[in-house]
Amino acid sequence: MTPRVRGALAATTGMGLVLSGLTALSSPALADPASTTDEASAAARVANPYVGADVYVNPIWSANAAAEPGGAAIADQPTGVWMDRIGAIEGNDSPTTGDMGLRDHLDEAVEQAGGEPLVFQLVVYNLPGRDCAALASNGELGPDEIDRYESEYIDPIADILADYEDTSLRVVTTIEIDSLPNLITNISPRETATPECDEMLANGNYVDGVGYALGRLGAIENVYNYVDAGHHGWIGWEDNFGPSARLFLEAANANGASPDDVHGFISNTANYSALREDHFSITDQVNGTSVRQSQWVDWNHYVDELSFTQALRTELVSLGFDSDLGMLIDTSRNGWGGSDRPTGPGPQSDVDAYVDGGRYDQRIQSGNWCNQSGAGLGERPTAAPEPGIHAYVWMKPPGESDGSSEEIPNDEGKGFDRMCDPTYEGNPRNGHNMSGALPNAPISGHWFSEQFQELLGEPVA
Ligand code: BGC
Repeated sequence: MTPRVRGALAATTGMGLVLSGLTALSSPALADPASTTDEASAAARVANPYVGADVYVNPIWSANAAAEPGGAAIADQPTGVWMDRIGAIEGNDSPTTGDMGLRDHLDEAVEQAGGEPLVFQLVVYNLPGRDCAALASNGELGPDEIDRYESEYIDPIADILADYEDTSLRVVTTIEIDSLPNLITNISPRETATPECDEMLANGNYVDGVGYALGRLGAIENVYNYVDAGHHGWIGWEDNFGPSARLFLEAANANGASPDDVHGFISNTANYSALREDHFSITDQVNGTSVRQSQWVDWNHYVDELSFTQALRTELVSLGFDSDLGMLIDTSRNGWGGSDRPTGPGPQSDVDAYVDGGRYDQRIQSGNWCNQSGAGLGERPTAAPEPGIHAYVWMKPPGESDGSSEEIPNDEGKGFDRMCDPTYEGNPRNGHNMSGALPNAPISGHWFSEQFQELLGEPVA
């Protein structure tokens, strides 16, 4: 394949350098026949796909948002297109995805692009035994169905994307949310282990599935793969951080993939961690006690998503990922705006008062993840906002539920996770705190009007 460069030739990397699109990825591919394609693909990519490009607005989400009172204010924002089951590839008439399949979305994206560069954000989310530490987003494939994942899910997606290789689209993928971090934190002998995550570690199907997706999609020259990397309130601790990074490298070398297939990583997908905590930092002390000893930080090494994501990038590059690696941060629901948003640091009486009085993130505990009460929209999608960060994105479409607050029978494979039940406080993964979830929530992915209203009502200015 002939290397080609489209759109703006000059692209700004997150690191503030101006590079020619031709320089894109620097590490040479190995000299085997399969990697000739990789090399051409890598050479054709721009350093940061978001620079000099618009981003696709999903008409289905946009219509849902616009139908809400006040929703028109954000209905033109780009959000992720989730392929959350095999049926979604052809269009499955679900309440939130309507009947637009992948090809319909890509055709619409080509229209929106009008020949100019346009980022199309595609979420790849259908691993065997999906969501092994929670139930709310359990999927359709059993733990051992790696063959179906490859042949009925990734292959058709790759075949369709290949038909759009010659367009002005830049396809940004988010690869398999939560899967790899689950294999670090939710396995035996940890207290937080689940039998399902132990099984996915033992059978290797998360690592093999991610590797397969990276290799197949990474061979398409206008695809930019970003692997999901959890968030700071999950892998920011020492015993999770390094091991997660090493596992990401292992997956990037598994089942046909190479690190050249990884353009970057995405953090905070569908989560609520604040981008920046302006009123305290990890090095602060109160009366000689470190902020790390506060109940909220609880010995974590990071207090917010931006510092965590930049540090993770450095770690990943030091392990052997490309030095041009770029990060995305999902800011769709981490704004924590409104009248409760602190305007200055908390009192210096003790470290907890200091941290709790100053923090934007109003969660009861940073492990809470389902339909968080009090959340607000975060930063609007932005290209190249900070060093090392390719973009702030709204990968999780605001207004789509994280899980039902009570058991609701469904044919999507979704379970009922009590982390979505506002009355629950029985989970070791959030220290047996209350879940902080909103009541009356539909199953994950379905439109949740009350949540949309709350997010909209509390935007960051
Ligand atoms: C759900 C998916 C949905 C996605 C986006 C996930 O939690 O499991 O079905 O497509 O959220 O809303």
